[in-house]
Amino acid sequence: MAKTLNIALVGCGFMGRAHANAYSQVGHFFDLEYQPVLKACYGRPENRANLEQFAARWGIESVETDWRQLVTRDDIHVVDVCVPNHMHHDVVLAAAAAGKIVVCEKPLAMNAAEGEAMVAAIEKAGVANLIWFNYRRVPAISLFKQIVDEGRVGRPFHYRAVYNQDYTIDANVPQGGRAMWRLDSKVAGSGVTGDLLAHSIDTAEWINGPIARVVASTETFIKERQHTDTGQVEKVDIDDACMFLARFANGSMGTFESTRYARGRKNYNAMELNGENGAVFFDLENPHMLEFYRYADPQTGNKVEDHLTGWQKIHVTNFEHPYMDKWWVPGCTIGYEHTFTNTLADFLKGLETGTPAQPDLRSGLRTQRVCDAVLESARTGTWIDIPQ
Ligand SMILES: NC(=O)c1ccc[n+]([C@@H]2O[C@H](COP(=O)([O-])OP(=O)(O)OC[C@H]3O[C@@H](n4cnc5c(N)ncnc54)[C@H](O)[C@@H]3O)[C@@H](O)[C@H]2O)c1
Repeated sequence: MAKTLNIALVGCGFMGRAHANAYSQVGHFFDLEYQPVLKACYGRPENRANLEQFAARWGIESVETDWRQLVTRDDIHVVDVCVPNHMHHDVVLAAAAAGKIVVCEKPLAMNAAEGEAMVAAIEKAGVANLIWFNYRRVPAISLFKQIVDEGRVGRPFHYRAVYNQDYTIDANVPQGGRAMWRLDSKVAGSGVTGDLLAHSIDTAEWINGPIARVVASTETFIKERQHTDTGQVEKVDIDDACMFLARFANGSMGTFESTRYARGRKNYNAMELNGENGAVFFDLENPHMLEFYRYADPQTGNKVEDHLTGWQKIHVTNFEHPYMDKWWVPGCTIGYEHTFTNTLADFLKGLETGTPAQPDLRSGLRTQRVCDAVLESARTGTWIDIPQ
């Protein structure tokens, strides 16, 4: 017998849509005891018409323009935090106090201090929780980790991550307001570090283990922009670009680069690991492909490279590949939205089996600490150690 889980979507923008789609689809593709029901959604009072349109489109039963009212409703089991970053702390604390399951978008918070309070509240309440680092569930990225865990890369030497976009190059792009809150530090916390590198850091530590220390440099190319809320030209306080060097606890070296000024790049999220026995490369512009270079046999360590060796392109659509047996037949691809459905399926399975899915909010706090260290290093120009 299916168990119903009533969902409250707190936020109905980009992620509200991605999550609403995941809740709607997950039961069609995965065998799960828990079945989500889109019970209610929150949006700002000034956008009530949009909110009602959103609810009608996704079959959401009711709307609320007061999120505090929503998260304490008796008929809500899960609070899903899809609002901008400056609201995550308050919504999570209220949801935890009301004993709700919490699933929260990334970055966890504006900074690690906020994140610590959120994790303390969640753990005190003892509620199931998740942070939506959905890229772990791109099948090719899950396969990347599987290949590393199988020892096929061997001793790791270099991890490099790039996450580039180009949508803020124009100096006339405003900051703040509904559309460009990511450029307003009071709402976003930071720029590309919290927005994009948080993903890269989560994936990197998941695949290659903890980062021990970082040294970073950031830049804000356009120093002032008109603020949508005030109409005034105001200082821009977020990092437009960030590069950092990392030393991993396993002895490997890392480079991380992110910018919103990489003309031509829209959502270029790429990563490569080079080890003694092999290497793996992925980029989100080719989301079904994983590239693998095999140099040595993982069992014997003996060299297998010969005149036929080269980068092998794996079309990650076989039934043997992560998640792909739940979707179509081999050769048929899935897309961006499926990464959220895969994440949700794992979370619901975790509720069912009692083995919680990762990453949880504590894992999100770990990523937040690395982000804070990166920003501190950029300010001070020094290496910063990250507590393990
Ligand atoms: N996992 C991912 O890959 C991913 C991708 C995009 C965004 N996110 C995260 O999801 C969260 C929401 O991002 P989004 O892209 O859906 O945002 P969005 O701007 O598309 O939607 C934001 C929602 O919050 C509401 N809102 C309430 N107060 C607001 C305010 N002061 N300013 C702006 N909107 C306000 C809006 O009405 C809207 O419903 C953020 O924390 C973001 O970092 C994660």
